[in-house]
Amino acid sequence: MTAWSSIRRTMPCLLNFTTFCNTTTTTNFLFPTPPLSNLSPSFLSTQPSSHLSVFLSSSSRSSTLRFFSSSKLSGGMGDRAVSSLDNLQMSDKISYLTQKDAAEIDEILMGPLGFSVDQLMELAGLSVAASIAEVYRSNDYGRVLALCGPGNNGGDGLVAARHLYHFGYKPFVCYPKRTPKPLYAGLVTQLESLEIPFLSVEDLPQDLSKDFDIIVDAMFGFSFHGKPRPPFDGVIQRLVSLHSHAQAQSRRISPVIVSVDIPSGWHVEEGDLDGQGIKPDMLVSLTAPKLCAKKFCGPHHFLGGRFVPPSIVKKYKLNLPPYPGTSMCVRIGKPPSVDISALRENYLSPEFLEDQVLPDPIDQFRRWFDDAVAAGLREPNAMALSTADKGGKLSSRMVLLKGVDEHGFVWYTNYESQKARELSENPRASLLFYWNELNRQVRIEGTVQKVSEEESEQYFHSRPRGSQIGAIVSKQSTVVPGRHVLHEEYKALEAKFSDGKLIPKPENWGGYRLKPTVVEFWQGQQSRLHDRLQYSLIEIEGKQAWHIVRLAP
Ligand SMILES: Cc1cc2nc3c(=O)[nH]c(=O)nc-3n(C[C@H](O)[C@H](O)[C@H](O)COP(=O)(O)O)c2cc1C
Repeated sequence: MTAWSSIRRTMPCLLNFTTFCNTTTTTNFLFPTPPLSNLSPSFLSTQPSSHLSVFLSSSSRSSTLRFFSSSKLSGGMGDRAVSSLDNLQMSDKISYLTQKDAAEIDEILMGPLGFSVDQLMELAGLSVAASIAEVYRSNDYGRVLALCGPGNNGGDGLVAARHLYHFGYKPFVCYPKRTPKPLYAGLVTQLESLEIPFLSVEDLPQDLSKDFDIIVDAMFGFSFHGKPRPPFDGVIQRLVSLHSHAQAQSRRISPVIVSVDIPSGWHVEEGDLDGQGIKPDMLVSLTAPKLCAKKFCGPHHFLGGRFVPPSIVKKYKLNLPPYPGTSMCVRIGKPPSVDISALRENYLSPEFLEDQVLPDPIDQFRRWFDDAVAAGLREPNAMALSTADKGGKLSSRMVLLKGVDEHGFVWYTNYESQKARELSENPRASLLFYWNELNRQVRIEGTVQKVSEEESEQYFHSRPRGSQIGAIVSKQSTVVPGRHVLHEEYKALEAKFSDGKLIPKPENWGGYRLKPTVVEFWQGQQSRLHDRLQYSLIEIEGKQAWHIVRLAP
């Protein structure tokens, strides 16, 4: 078996089934949207690393949380989403490898290119774990059974199990034919030191559906030929029967099957020859998908193994999707269509209690805002602003918070826009912040006034010159005949102000300040028993004071 054969393997589906050829072939690929995470004190043990990890900080104030963002955030959630869009639009062609090419690439990587098996296995296993964490959250899919074969594919499975443990999953390993080499012995030792249970085939329940949420099929990789032998033939049959059980009960919930590079038992180029093989829910192709991946019809096809050097790409004319941000995996093929009614999150958060909140909602807001910043959230200052005209007709849009103090919440805009017209008719508005990764929402209601001209001037000139020109160009909320009109005007103004002189603030541009009368802090909790603490301004003995109540979720 070629060195790190297990590291790559794939199979997409549903794409245009172009004719096979015995060199690399191509098909369309599309990209995913990122799943997001929840926050909880139990994150320490339950969250995949690709999600936000939260640690209660002993050194800081008691309710303060320290956040450590991982790849999904620091790698740029924005990058990922934009990359998804780019790739959707590119509708590019992805390459598929023959068995021979896959083996050759391995040899080149581990020969002239200087990689070791250990390195490639580590990257493969990490890619598999990262792909799993992208789709199956540890909150819902915590128990993972890694079925590991004797070769490199099995090694990938062992590495993936280790990473999954650190991502917050609870792995179990079935590794019936251990390979007596230091690399594999080391992996076993690492897993044992984490107290990951090793199960024999005999220990495995006949029906795997009750005890596991995810089954990682890491039995055979791309150098596999022929028919699986015992005990793997029996194990494969159990995976096949899982699928039949689920079909019989018209459901497909768990466990899900994640195949590493090749669904075990499939022909590496032709796929599931008799149609009686494993039908994985997820396939993680490694390096580049193998031809059999074209027959994959599950909902999640990912590519991992982010190390392919340009020389290999060139030699094999590989056309592979770009990896977003710092991610170790990327979705190939269409994201699955979702049943909107079934989209559901179970929020896990620390308790949010009356005795933890600050007496003033602005202070409390700042505290939560700081948490959002510390968590590395993108544009934590983005908020929905809702306004209504004098007839009560409502409208909402996003704006950016540009200041908050005891006087209220400030944003800037065009004073002739729709929102401005509505605010002139009805100076009441509401603001809404939603920090998904923290399971937090803040609702604010109040009255609105323009900020002083001086304040607007000051802020206007603090903006990048491009934004200043943009504000002059945009007659916000009016009809524009075409994008070119904006560009032309922008260019003209850019030329006009190219000498660096002061760009005057347009008169119709400035800030608004909402003075809050009601502020509600919401934190998601399990079983929809969310926390809602609402501050409202009341008068006590002629003085205004904030009154805090808990609202039913
Ligand atoms: C994240 C985000 C932030 C935005 N920030 C602002 C802003 O600070 N000021 C603004 O005028 N428009 C902002 N916009 C654009 C507004 O949502 C909206 O399109 C524009 O203000 C016109 O709204 P109107 O026609 O209802 O007045 C933002 C949009 C997004 C998505």
